[in-house]
Amino acid sequence: MNIEISDSYADLSLMAKNRVVQEIEKNRRLLLCTATGGSPAGMYQLLSSTYQENPGLFARLRIIKLDEWGGVPMDQPGTCEQYLQQNLLQPLRIPESRYTGFHSNPENPGLECARIQAKLTTEGPIDLCILGIGMNGHLAFNEPADFLQPFSHVAELSAMTLQHAMTSEMRVKPGFGLTLGMADILHAKMILILIAGKDKRAIVHQFLSKKVSSSVPASFLWLHPNAHCLITKDALETTA
Ligand code: PGA
Repeated sequence: MNIEISDSYADLSLMAKNRVVQEIEKNRRLLLCTATGGSPAGMYQLLSSTYQENPGLFARLRIIKLDEWGGVPMDQPGTCEQYLQQNLLQPLRIPESRYTGFHSNPENPGLECARIQAKLTTEGPIDLCILGIGMNGHLAFNEPADFLQPFSHVAELSAMTLQHAMTSEMRVKPGFGLTLGMADILHAKMILILIAGKDKRAIVHQFLSKKVSSSVPASFLWLHPNAHCLITKDALETTA
């Protein structure tokens, strides 16, 4: 994994935006898998500005949502859907035909995962996967466990995950997660993981130890041949 340290969150977001733009320039039909949460928010904002200057760049871009809170209405604040609609899909004018995403409140969550998996089989593999790391080392909703799951699945959410800032906005709290699996992520041609802030120091320490373990699902990124980690200085441990 290639690791690049940035001085600030603004720098990290700019570096990430430049990478994404570079990849779209190489492949206008890029399939971009998008995480939500605080880590990629700055980058998405910069991509919206890029759209204002050059809308044509995004005319064929395809997007797939990485994961979703389950059992909550799709239009409720705090869902990954609302986040992506506001931060990316509307600013970049991505129509439904170029977007794939889990419904947050499907009648049959297992069938919903199968629907997304089938779509990924047709549209995939993912060209570029944007990720963040959970406070507990999760990757999407692949939570620390004795074993990990390769494909889209319904996930049991850990207590720590349920405390994520996104859930604080929700009236109905999530009962489960819907997520792409580890193989879906690791089959991406390129991975960009964004890590910012001193709150992540403890998990970053484990992640950077290069011990690949299902207790830190993000550690599996060390097995990927084209994974890039952009990290702010303050997320790294200081020796002082
Ligand atoms: P964050 O979330 O980007 O808001 O820190 C990452 C995650 O929990 O997966």
